[in-house]
Amino acid sequence: MNEAMGTWRRSCLCGEVTEAMVGRELTLMGWCHKQRDLGGLVFITLRDIAGEVQIVVDEDSPEDIRDKASSVRSEYVLAVQGTLRMRSAINPDMKTGTVELHTTDLRILSQAETPPFYIEDDADVNETLRLKYRFLDLRRQTMQRKMLARHRITKITRDFFDREGFIDVETPTLIKSTPEGARDYLVPSRVFPGRFFALPQSPQLYKQLLMLAGYNKYMQIARCFRDEDLRADRQPEFTQIDIEMSFVSEDDVIDANERYLSTLMREFMGVELELPIRRITWRDAMSRFGSDKPDYRFGMELFDISDLAKLTDFRVFSDAVSEGGLVAAIAVPGGVSMSRRELDDLALFVRRNTKAKGLAWLSIGDDKNSRGSVAKFCDVEFVREALARAGEDEFAQLLIVADADKMTVLEALGDLRLEVAKRRDLIPEDCFEFCWVTEFPLLEWSQEADRYVAKHHPFTAPMEEDIALLDTNPGDARARAYDIVLNGTELGGGSIRIHSQELQRQMFKLLGFTDEQAEMQFGFLLSAFRYGVPPHGGLAYGLDRIVMLLTGQETIREVIAFPKVQNSSSLMTGAPYFVAEKQLGELGLAIVAKPDESSLELGGDQPH
Ligand code: AMO
Ligand code: AMP
Repeated sequence: MNEAMGTWRRSCLCGEVTEAMVGRELTLMGWCHKQRDLGGLVFITLRDIAGEVQIVVDEDSPEDIRDKASSVRSEYVLAVQGTLRMRSAINPDMKTGTVELHTTDLRILSQAETPPFYIEDDADVNETLRLKYRFLDLRRQTMQRKMLARHRITKITRDFFDREGFIDVETPTLIKSTPEGARDYLVPSRVFPGRFFALPQSPQLYKQLLMLAGYNKYMQIARCFRDEDLRADRQPEFTQIDIEMSFVSEDDVIDANERYLSTLMREFMGVELELPIRRITWRDAMSRFGSDKPDYRFGMELFDISDLAKLTDFRVFSDAVSEGGLVAAIAVPGGVSMSRRELDDLALFVRRNTKAKGLAWLSIGDDKNSRGSVAKFCDVEFVREALARAGEDEFAQLLIVADADKMTVLEALGDLRLEVAKRRDLIPEDCFEFCWVTEFPLLEWSQEADRYVAKHHPFTAPMEEDIALLDTNPGDARARAYDIVLNGTELGGGSIRIHSQELQRQMFKLLGFTDEQAEMQFGFLLSAFRYGVPPHGGLAYGLDRIVMLLTGQETIREVIAFPKVQNSSSLMTGAPYFVAEKQLGELGLAIVAKPDESSLELGGDQPH
């Protein structure tokens, strides 16, 4: 039977009890973390969000209370009254380990069944079970710490932008579907059967309209929705710290955000961030790191050896160069000791996970000759010259990729660089390496759509000096876009926007929209552009990713209270779920696809 709290009021949280309170009568409430019954002597560890405290029920406690304490099980919700005393045996692992509450009265506010897993930080529970019972998982101190960290980061963020004069404006969640970007989540309209709202992929257009409306600086912590394939750092609904500013150029946006990042690092991490944050152009990032999100925590940068490779008799190398491609390498420090098996494994990694067709390796053997998969074609002088370019000594291992397509080589070596660093433990912990990546290409050719698509989004302005290229060679035009990267993860991205109606129309045309289509999709924006637009730009961070990196987590699921799993479903609620025929009827909808009931079973799939 559950008892009522009655007139009892908590004196403080369990974890807030201190030695200064010894001798006082306290009322504490919380969950029974553990109960030990030594016959006539019962110890209960009482837990809440602030921590734990020991409760003692002994021969001094009333008999009915002793009986009640004996019946208490893990996760029962209790209210306890008693006197705080010093403990004879101190528990140094507990914040409140020097004191204990001697019980005079006890109420069982709620009984609990045995939970499917222990509410312990180090309990080894698989993620499917954790997510199915997320409400229990969230009771664990590690999870509570992550949620509190998220709260603090959000608070620091809001306070910072408020101090800088940004206005928090809420933008709508039921909006018009736009064909660019990821797939939209749709919401059917009841009033207009056959029509749909979309959930916003970001508040992009609204924040631009706010600039047009004169709001000068805007920020919002905004929920965004994208129906895309999930990965460790992606969720179908996620949160952006969304920012827009008027009368600004790249440097203004970057400066404001560097002040934000240094405030965040100081106030949340206690780390002094060195400003300005380094900047690298997209082109340099690709050629030095093989990635548009360079990880600066370790070296092993890519370097070009096409000039050396083209002189060899190895056709894979010489053909790649003569076909306009690239031969490039990374040098693994101390890698001369890598085993044949390790190297074969890396070659397999390259063939399986990248577009490159193979991996060659070379080092200097004990006999001072070249050694490796292409040693036949590349003498020791080749190896020495390549190592010198990398600034590595004779104990390094060269890993080489050749291809007629330069980007294939760069991306393969970029992925390989990260993989080798992981496997050989070359990534230092507790270090925060930020960088800005600038001058992204404006457009990207989409094989699938057989047209250009915007690399960032269709509202991003081209660089002034590249505007002429839009007519001649649009693929070469660079954008006034920038990404902020931390430890090889894209934290956020943004751009200076197009603010002229003509240029925006030209952009839509390049993206394959007819004038009518552009008008139908973005008419409100184009018409707004007729009424006076300030130059403007901004950026959005993935809040989940910031919290993930600053709390040292591997996935954003760990820092989202109720996340979805890889197939975008919720293991806890079973959403998405079927709706009643009546509901469908009201919306003028009928289900054509055969529903797959099996995949909706709770716990029936693997989270990712
Ligand atoms: P973008 O699409 O680059 O830009 O998104 C900005 C940031 O949002 C985060 N993010 C995600 N986080 C979790 N799950 C996802 N599925 C997901 N998708 C994106 C990333 C990313 O860097 N409106 C523009 C911003 C602008 O131009 O101002 C935008 O949305 O951290
Ligand atoms: P193969 O003649 O295909 O057995 O290749 C001989 C060696 O060349 C392989 O062991 C690889 O080390 C290397 N190799 C093959 N293709 C490539 C490539 N595209 N880039 C770099 N090395 C390659």
